[in-house]
Amino acid sequence: MNKNSIKIIENIKRKIDFYLPQRLNQQKIKYFINKIKFNFDLNALNKNFNEPARDFLFRGGKRWRPILFLLTVKLFGKNYKKYLNIAAAIEIAHNATLIIDDIEDNSLLRRNELTCHIKFGLDTALNTGILLHFIPLKILLKSNLPSKQLQKISSIYIEEIINVHFGQTIDIYWHKKFPQNINISQYMEMCRLKTGGLVKMPLRIACALAQKNKNTERQLSHFGELIAIAFQIKDDVLDLIDNKNLGKTFGNDITEGKISFPVILALKKLTSAKSKRLIQILKIHTRDKKLISEAIELINKSGAIEESLKFANKLIDKAWQNIENILPQNSTKEEFKKFILSLTKRI
Ligand code: IPE
Ligand code: IPE
Ligand code: MG
Ligand code: MG
Ligand code: MG
Repeated sequence: MNKNSIKIIENIKRKIDFYLPQRLNQQKIKYFINKIKFNFDLNALNKNFNEPARDFLFRGGKRWRPILFLLTVKLFGKNYKKYLNIAAAIEIAHNATLIIDDIEDNSLLRRNELTCHIKFGLDTALNTGILLHFIPLKILLKSNLPSKQLQKISSIYIEEIINVHFGQTIDIYWHKKFPQNINISQYMEMCRLKTGGLVKMPLRIACALAQKNKNTERQLSHFGELIAIAFQIKDDVLDLIDNKNLGKTFGNDITEGKISFPVILALKKLTSAKSKRLIQILKIHTRDKKLISEAIELINKSGAIEESLKFANKLIDKAWQNIENILPQNSTKEEFKKFILSLTKRI
């Protein structure tokens, strides 16, 4: 990460801290709700929402979605420092989806610490995750943007959040029911939605702020979808590699019975007996280390890992080729490219 990204991350954190400070007082909550009528239990709000929200938001994370947003704004020649509030809103939205995703995926670890529902309880985590989906919308609505832009940006926000959860709906159905013969095209559509939503959101909002035409927005959206799918394929692969830096439980996708990209490929490549065995392990949602290792070995030996990485890298190259000539030729373009590559080529 370069010096500039570190500085930007500090600014994003400062903005998040502005909206959700260590203690929400009467004045601060009036930002979110219009009035206090009787006697508001501030302690309950702080203990049961603000504390778990801040605990999750400030434990790290790569913050690449808000950086992508600010870089795109800069690429289009706008002063990105004016839009740190929107950058913070995007990061809050991403964290909201992760709190809920960890519940859906039965995950125990996030960013090397216990997931929100394990640490604070299911009721609190659910409520915090839901509430955090709406805070960004409030931040957007309270920004001083011209009403036409505001309407456009809020509808992008809503559209992309719906996309994320449509994608999650399919993902959950697959790990619950393990339908047969899920193919690459179905996987790509699911990821275009679940992961693509929060990649398209920053790109599309940047387009709206810079008043780009429909065609540019469409091309950047498609770019966002391709890099999101590549990022998700690599996330699926990373789940199968023991790596403390990831901050998530190794093999959790096997426990969940995920139809991940490497699983789809392995099921095509393995002999019918081995394929059956892999399905058998995935269907029992095991936390048994030996069985998880056996499943990972089956996937590994099928060659699915290398093929998944190759597929993802091709998507990144294709995504870049598609937009290379439509982006403004300025000094930010190289920075933008470097950033995308560092993000998507982490494995
Ligand atoms: C995790 O996203 C969810 C996926 C789309 C795979 P990140 O890997 O960007 O998570 P943080 O914010 O850096 O922790
Ligand atoms: C993406 O999928 C999560 C969202 C789109 C919210 P994963 O479930 O694979 O993400 P991780 O692995 O838990 O970070
Ligand atoms: Mg998930
Ligand atoms: Mg998950
Ligand atoms: Mg994952």
